[in-house]
Amino acid sequence: MFCEEGVPVDTMPTKVYIRTFGCQMNKRDSEILAGALRRRGAELVDDWEDADVVLFNTCAVRKHAEDRVFSILGLLAKSARSRGQRKVFGLLGCMAEEWKGDAFKKAPYLDLVCGPNDLYTLVEHLEDIVSAKRRWAFVGGERRSDEFYSRGAYFTVPTGESTEPTFVIVMEGCDNFCSYCIVPYVRGRERSRPWRDVVEEVRMLVSAGRFSFMLLGQNVNSYAGGMDFPDLLDRVARIEGVRELSFATSHPKDAHRRLFEVMASHENIRPYLHLPMQSGSDRILRAMNRGYTYEEYLEKIATYRALVPNGYLSTDIIVGFPGETEEDFLKTRRALEEIRFDNAYIFKYSPRPFTKASSLKDDVPLKEKERRHQELLTLQKRLSAARRPSN
Ligand code: SAH
Ligand code: SF4
Ligand code: F3S
Repeated sequence: MFCEEGVPVDTMPTKVYIRTFGCQMNKRDSEILAGALRRRGAELVDDWEDADVVLFNTCAVRKHAEDRVFSILGLLAKSARSRGQRKVFGLLGCMAEEWKGDAFKKAPYLDLVCGPNDLYTLVEHLEDIVSAKRRWAFVGGERRSDEFYSRGAYFTVPTGESTEPTFVIVMEGCDNFCSYCIVPYVRGRERSRPWRDVVEEVRMLVSAGRFSFMLLGQNVNSYAGGMDFPDLLDRVARIEGVRELSFATSHPKDAHRRLFEVMASHENIRPYLHLPMQSGSDRILRAMNRGYTYEEYLEKIATYRALVPNGYLSTDIIVGFPGETEEDFLKTRRALEEIRFDNAYIFKYSPRPFTKASSLKDDVPLKEKERRHQELLTLQKRLSAARRPSN
């Protein structure tokens, strides 16, 4: 169909709403997806009620967050149905890869399930998905098509304020298999983007007006796209127009002196390190398959603090891992007091499908997990306040 000026007019563009849960990687995936959908002629809307397609890009790392997603999606689907509106509801991201086809049983209102490595397939099938009266499942992708990267990431400038950091994915997936963690099962094996692609993307984003960047990976320290991570960080910090640079997340076993040296040697690299410790007890660290002892963790931090003066340090802690005794817990408590993190994210252990730990008895009672959680939150609040300069 053509309008008078001879410009092709498609049928009305499909209106898509995307809501994102989980980590920065998911946030960037949603931006890339939005960009790719726009180039396909879709219109992205801010209110789900205006949308033909309602997509939830989700996180599977803890059960609590997962229950929330199903409950919100269920409410939206019910509300649309009660008004006779026909919308496509899609579960995307890590929960989609976890549930696969079973998601349709768990949430019968779903029309679409799409794992994090199959987002480009979704883009290619958007029109079919909207017009067909059938269900779609794109899951089980081990790695993302290069197309998603090149046609997506390269040309996707985030719509948010330019003062916020722009996320740039440098590697994806995880081969660490910490015994509690579902990420390696839903994101697949580690793969790195070639360093030239990363540099090209940052240059493109600089020319589009962005100046603050965060390099992303499930474990950036295992980056292997033609150079190691410290070299990549150094390379990106040298790009003209990059005024602020940070990265997430680092695994302690692969964060070395050279990384801290690079951080210290560039004015534009933020002195910010997120280094998940998980526990202060060697017994629990071993059971978690973390690959370091508490002493080794302490040494890393001492090196970081010596090389990066006024460095900011944050961490993740899990309480109530199977078999965690009061003594183990007290070791974690003492570790927080000893290290004095600027911030700590504290989580209650949640058994996840596919993981090694899920075959262990979840033997710390919920009440006890809650007590340990609360105790560390209170402690960390006091420690964080003491570390913040008062002026
Ligand atoms: N790739 C990152 C973090 C992934 S998940 C890293 O390795 O650092 C973010 C945090 O969620 C983890 O650091 C851990 O503290 C927490 N987490 C992961 N699995 C969990 C589980 N099953 N129960 C509770 N917390 C969990
Ligand atoms: Fe999960 Fe461990 Fe990989 Fe982090 S390093 S994503 S905690 S398996
Ligand atoms: Fe969650 Fe997936 Fe990120 S499980 S933490 S959204 S990689």
